[in-house]
Amino acid sequence: MKLLIIVIVFFTNVFAVDYGELLFNGNCITCHFKTKKVSAPSIYEIRENYLRAFPEEEVFVKYMSTWVLKPDIKTSIMQDSIEEFNIMPELGYDEYTLKEIARYLYKTDFSTQQK
Ligand code: HEC
Repeated sequence: MKLLIIVIVFFTNVFAVDYGELLFNGNCITCHFKTKKVSAPSIYEIRENYLRAFPEEEVFVKYMSTWVLKPDIKTSIMQDSIEEFNIMPELGYDEYTLKEIARYLYKTDFSTQQK
């Protein structure tokens, strides 16, 4: 019984992490490469800016999910990127999905990842 509980907890955790990652890979990575700036800033660069502005996880997640829900020049913390690429388009995802993605981004160090 104990083993079963450990196994369940283990898999639940694995899925929780993978879910945000899957969502990011499916919905954001076409524009935001991990470390390479192509048609948009890399997610590494965005994460660095966000961590500097919002070191606390809850604030980071709330600000990012609210911003991506409705991108707005006035509340952007990356004005230079807007000048370089234009404002990010509104994607039409729900807030729950965006929070899962933001939480994954908060937790993931992209500095050692390829592309
Ligand atoms: C069609 C291309 C495109 C897609 C898809 C896209 N983005 Fe962006 N995103 C951009 C561009 C271009 C910028 C830089 C300009 C800006 O900041 O608005 C940007 C900027 C951002 C920023 C910086 C916000 C700021 O303060 O300026 C965040 C955070 C972000 N994207 C998150 C996401 C997430 C999360 C997803 C997936 C749900 C996503 N993006 C999908 C193009 C895209």
